[in-house]
Amino acid sequence: MTRENPARPGIAAFAAYRLVPDLPVPVRAKLDFNESPYDVPDEVKEKVLSRLKARRWSLYPEFGATRLREAIAASLGRSPEEVVVGNGSGELLLAAMNVFAGGGRLLLTPPTFSLYPQLALLAQAEVATVPLSGDDFLFDEEAILRAVRAWPTVPLICSPNNPTGTPADPAFLRKLADAAPVALLDQAYVDFAPPEASALALVDEGRNVVVFRTLSKAYAAAGFRIGYAVARPDLVRELAKAVLPFSVDQASEELGVALLEDPGPARARVAELVRERERMAAALRGMGAKVAPSAGNFLFVEPPGGGSESVRTELLGRGILVRDLGPSAGDRLRVSIGLREENDLFLAGLREITERKGAP
Ligand SMILES: Cc1ncc(COP(=O)(O)O)c(C=O)c1O
Repeated sequence: MTRENPARPGIAAFAAYRLVPDLPVPVRAKLDFNESPYDVPDEVKEKVLSRLKARRWSLYPEFGATRLREAIAASLGRSPEEVVVGNGSGELLLAAMNVFAGGGRLLLTPPTFSLYPQLALLAQAEVATVPLSGDDFLFDEEAILRAVRAWPTVPLICSPNNPTGTPADPAFLRKLADAAPVALLDQAYVDFAPPEASALALVDEGRNVVVFRTLSKAYAAAGFRIGYAVARPDLVRELAKAVLPFSVDQASEELGVALLEDPGPARARVAELVRERERMAAALRGMGAKVAPSAGNFLFVEPPGGGSESVRTELLGRGILVRDLGPSAGDRLRVSIGLREENDLFLAGLREITERKGAP
């Protein structure tokens, strides 16, 4: 019996988000998902487990996740009315698209986070694009402002941008917020960037911006789902209408609160990853690779002599996982910053592959 696909045509035509490939060998360096290579410290795990044990698992979590919102707000020196939490920042990005861009137009700057087009499709937002420019993948500020002024369009800017690492200049983001109905600013990786990259000052200035952040990266909490958005309270109230009730479960809530009680260890690890990022970038450039200047926990790399897809496959054969992002990313790979020994494995693997390719 043949059956018609009952999905909306746009959904049926869309290629599903791709996940981990089959692995021919054990993983030696997992540098493909921009995760933290450090686990949550054992003391924090113990604290979360004992607090969770004391709670009633049969009850819904606290409505509105007030404790977690208060902890996030306190960590940023802000008020809880400016914060909404979600089941990872991905949920909040979808909510924001539904609330602010659904049925309208959304502007993206490819290559950028591959989930955005899928979320736009779900929100039924039409996507316009202004690609990043040049070998350093900079935001084409004038073209973005022109596009936003020409037509009511909600820009979604990822800063630092995944997969390139490029941060946007806050002075440009300020102009963008003033030109657009509202600017959506994804700052999932901002903890790895210099403090000037933060867009939170635009919230203080009362502008129409929503800033998205996550505990998945710098706080190493990707195995739980803790994302948040910061905006003026009136925008937070609108955004919260598109977030499902109780979307942050109580385990995630307890972990978020515990991590933010002592942010010292996470900050020290971020500093170590930033040092490793710069060491890797210098070593790669020394090998003749092109590397965009990155303010994230990853690098966007054109291997010496190109051939990123075959390089990725050869690295995979050695148990070294990096991310290939398809044609929109050109001949580049995204490499997450791991532990020093993982990074060294990657560098050594790439050097060997490149030398063999270059050999007669
Ligand atoms: C740019 C960007 N935004 C958002 C997310 C989603 O993060 P979360 O784990 O908070 O859902 C990611 C995850 O990789 C990301 O790269």
